[in-house]
Amino acid sequence: MTDVRTTLKQGLAQLREAHVPSFTLAAELLLLHVLGRDRTWIYAHPEEEISSTDVERFFALIARRANGVPTQHLTGKQEFWGLEFEVSPDVLIPRPETEHVIEVALDRLAVRELRAGRKPTLSGEGLQIADIGTGSGCIAIALAKEIPGAAIFATDISEAALAVARRNAARHAVADRIHFLESNLLEGLIDRNLANTGRLGVGAQHAAPLLGNAGPDSQARSQIREHGSRFFDLIVSNPPYIGRCEVAALMREVCDHEPEIALYGGEEGYELYAALIAQAAAHLKPGGLLVLELGHNTLPAVQPLLDAPAWTSVALTNDLAGIPRVIAAERL
Ligand SMILES: C[S@@+](CC[C@H](N)C(=O)[O-])C[C@H]1O[C@@H](n2cnc3c(N)ncnc32)[C@H](O)[C@@H]1O
Repeated sequence: MTDVRTTLKQGLAQLREAHVPSFTLAAELLLLHVLGRDRTWIYAHPEEEISSTDVERFFALIARRANGVPTQHLTGKQEFWGLEFEVSPDVLIPRPETEHVIEVALDRLAVRELRAGRKPTLSGEGLQIADIGTGSGCIAIALAKEIPGAAIFATDISEAALAVARRNAARHAVADRIHFLESNLLEGLIDRNLANTGRLGVGAQHAAPLLGNAGPDSQARSQIREHGSRFFDLIVSNPPYIGRCEVAALMREVCDHEPEIALYGGEEGYELYAALIAQAAAHLKPGGLLVLELGHNTLPAVQPLLDAPAWTSVALTNDLAGIPRVIAAERL
């Protein structure tokens, strides 16, 4: 038998030796996970004895963390926007900088209400929102919690990610307000006629077969078809934006453990933005808002795409490190 303090000290020493970033926090989170306790309990009970089974489980997790497995994959969870999300190797671990996407979206919606002479209460009655590349569902679910009257559509190209997102929506009691669709960007939401005319560019022709599908998503799709193609008040996305050319600079926790489809946007990283912005232009209502997360070096490639006549009120928001992290624009 050993106590909490000694076990924690030994665990964090092993992580420090393995050069694990934030090794103290990682060791604490793993011990909390094994003991099923919260942080205050650990510091209030340093002398408490731990069973040999729990000690064994803890050091097995420490060994995996020292080998590069992210803490979140070992505990199965990550906090985002004050909510706890299930994460797995099928989804990107939600990052704190993505919370700026939520902040900008809420601010811009509030400004839109003020400009229309309404009080910015953000109950969101009648608002239609799309989250493209939803992953764990963190953006869609945070918006569903903040804007209780909005209907939300969330797409991802990965069925495995959508399964995690659906479980997270159920966990946060918003499953009935988010329609999850397996789709390449917004293609699954595209009106059959638009797709057939080719007006949406690359890949749009693949939408027609999807629209014909029966199944749980068909109701959501026909709802969009009924309202025409310019259906959304807000489209948000944190698309994959790392360049394959940058892989050598990535931490092993990222490149060895997070899904490639969630990380890489192409050789340079910014490749998905052109199609995403063109499709968003086709789907946003007049006055509708687009809010996109940016990679640390994607701004020069993305900003010119929003210089097109379709867009106005383009604005940038920096993250806490001073990097332009979110770009927002309004559809004319
Ligand atoms: C950077 S992750 C963002 C996940 C989540 N929205 C977040 O902010 O944590 C990008 C997500 O886009 C999805 N994705 C990649 N390519 C896509 C595409 N062409 N169409 C739709 N989703 C795509 C990935 O599966 C992944 O879940």
